Amino acid sequence: MVPYENKHVLGIVGSPRIGGNTETLVDTILASAVERGASSDKVILTQLDIAPCQACNACRRTGSCIHEDDMEKLVSLMEKSDVWILGTPIYWWGPTAQFKTFLDRWYGVDQRHFQGKQIIAAIPMGGKDDHYARHTVGMIKDICNYLGMQYIETVIAPGMNGRGSVRESSRAIESARLAGMRIMDSC
Ligand SMILES: Cc1cc2nc3c(=O)[nH]c(=O)nc-3n(C[C@H](O)[C@H](O)[C@H](O)COP(=O)(O)O)c2cc1C
Repeated sequence: MVPYENKHVLGIVGSPRIGGNTETLVDTILASAVERGASSDKVILTQLDIAPCQACNACRRTGSCIHEDDMEKLVSLMEKSDVWILGTPIYWWGPTAQFKTFLDRWYGVDQRHFQGKQIIAAIPMGGKDDHYARHTVGMIKDICNYLGMQYIETVIAPGMNGRGSVRESSRAIESARLAGMRIMDSC
């Protein structure tokens, strides 16, 4: 159990749209957790160099990935964080390419270090119904189960199309704010 005041929260933004709905939701969750005493970091995947997994299995043979890119630093940051906010908009019922590329690279890391991490998914989408996010939410939940991580909740924002539309949705912003607060209540 991590004492509340020592909780470190990492926001991971999987949208290529800087200042868009995903980043706004992630920022709101982080700000709310920080207000209650957490420390935080944020990364924007599209600004990082993360190459796709080649399924060469070098990681299984040698313990390290053939790619020498930003994933190593990001994994260190993930390991030192207690809570990860996984943010991706829905693209064709799934996550963005940037987010999936990042997820695939989990194959090559020491996943034992992921055990016990707490996860919040932050997911905006253009469709007006939550069901557009069902595969993405299901995928993240299944991965959490598989790797022994704790899925806390989903912050979902349907009906968001414009770059800043989530800012005008008091419902979405409030649910992000409450999720940030709950980070500090969960152990
Ligand atoms: C390539 C692409 C595919 C999309 N596919 C879907 C979809 O399948 N379902 C949906 O509800 N919205 C879809 N959208 C809309 C985005 O999910 C929506 O605009 C979201 O708010 C974008 O978040 P962002 O501002 O963080 O990028 C798609 C958008 C793009 C660019």
